[in-house]
Amino acid sequence: MKQLLIIGAGGYGGVVYDIAKLNGYENIAFLDDSPKDKVVGKISEFEKFKDDAEFVLAIGDNTLRERFYNMLTENGAKVISLAHPSAIVAESAFVDNGTVIMAGAIINPNAKVGRAVIVNTCCSIDHDSVVEDFTHISVGARICGTVHVGSRTFVGAGATIINNISVCANCMIGAGAVVVKNISAPDTYVGTPAGRKLKTVISDMNSKPIHHK
Ligand SMILES: CC(C)(COP(=O)(O)OP(=O)(O)OC[C@H]1O[C@@H](n2cnc3c(N)ncnc32)[C@H](O)[C@@H]1OP(=O)(O)O)[C@@H](O)C(=O)NCCC(=O)NCCS
Repeated sequence: MKQLLIIGAGGYGGVVYDIAKLNGYENIAFLDDSPKDKVVGKISEFEKFKDDAEFVLAIGDNTLRERFYNMLTENGAKVISLAHPSAIVAESAFVDNGTVIMAGAIINPNAKVGRAVIVNTCCSIDHDSVVEDFTHISVGARICGTVHVGSRTFVGAGATIINNISVCANCMIGAGAVVVKNISAPDTYVGTPAGRKLKTVISDMNSKPIHHK
């Protein structure tokens, strides 16, 4: 087995390290711009290693992860996907290159997960859903059946997107949000129907996004 180089030596890198070990990789190191334990070079130095190593991405920021994924693959480096052995991926589901699936995650039949997606701990992506490239489905988030999540969208911890909903690219869905209506404008959306009328929630989610500079 070739050496495995993890791009990013932060907390998420440590989680990916454990998943790699459980998948039988023995020679594992990191590329990161800060010197840390097991860091063997800067990310920009990947070409020095690319003939003898495979790469996996452990970068939380969706845009940055996309940039590094493109840099690696366009320059002939082999980027791999990894899944924790406790994750459940249906036989008919499709998971594209560079995606990491963490402990306890579930991807159900006919779901399609794009490139370099983070399928985080104990989240679920249900039947026939499509999760596009460079998204992050956070810890414990629930993507119900036949949902579409656009590229680079971040779905926060414990958020739920109910069935048949479409969320466009480049959105931030806050932790614990319950998305009950299609989202077609990139922005940050928070809110839950708990204790409120459905109508109020829908109007909250569409009219009171948090604006970022
Ligand atoms: C939505 C989010 C991105 C907003 O972050 P932010 O722009 O820094 O917002 P702030 O913390 O300044 O909060 C702004 C307001 O929104 C509220 N708010 C923030 N996050 C919220 C959420 N998830 N649900 C409901 N309200 C929220 C705050 O209470 C605050 O309200 P106030 O103006 O009445 O005081 C962030 O809170 C969040 O949920 N991030 C997801 C983190 C996550 O899931 N990580 C998982 C990694 S695996």
